[in-house]
Amino acid sequence: MKERLKLGVLASGRGSNLQAIMDAIDAGTLDARIEVVVSNTKGCRALQRASEGGIRTESITRKECGGRRPQLLNITQLLKEAGVDLVVYAGFNLVGPPEMTAAFPDRMINIHPSLLPAFAGGMAPGPQADAVERGVKYSGCTVHIITDKVDAGPIIAQAVVPVLEDDDSDSLSARILAEEHKLLPRVIQWYAEDRVSVEGRRVRVAEPVSAGRG
Ligand code: GRF
Repeated sequence: MKERLKLGVLASGRGSNLQAIMDAIDAGTLDARIEVVVSNTKGCRALQRASEGGIRTESITRKECGGRRPQLLNITQLLKEAGVDLVVYAGFNLVGPPEMTAAFPDRMINIHPSLLPAFAGGMAPGPQADAVERGVKYSGCTVHIITDKVDAGPIIAQAVVPVLEDDDSDSLSARILAEEHKLLPRVIQWYAEDRVSVEGRRVRVAEPVSAGRG
């Protein structure tokens, strides 16, 4: 039997996307296993959620490591030692050095709360507030491969939501977040099924292999 896809999830705060991944695994719609959840923020809600779910947690702070670069290199080392197949940024607010992306080529993904390349950069709720302020009629979320340029890597999948007349940053964020929670586990499942390939800036998702006819 094929081994389950091993995930390393990086999160800095609330952890609702982490929770969506954990729930999809529990529900049997995501065939993966979270090996470790790593945070740069001790005691954050994401780490609590992981502990509650019996998942290994680690926090690696900038202070302990003496700077951001050593911190991210330590996180990279930890993920390598944990043997993860896919690194998932689920609300992780640090961008790695080239050594980090090189350690997991095309296998580090991020979820961003806008339709990239619009409103790239910035952490939630910045992109959602900017979308409201700019008056766009549609926004959404994007799952993309992490490269050395922030929010500019190949796009794997997007979900679209309308921006309503009376939206503020909070109401738009909530509408987008509901889509994030569906999109991120779905994309991870594509990796679990080995369906994702990258050709230059474009990502191809192969059709699922049919269950067969016996
Ligand atoms: C989400 O909006 C995600 O798109 C962005 O950071 C936020 C994380 O939320 N990258 P949560 O911690 O998963 O609840």
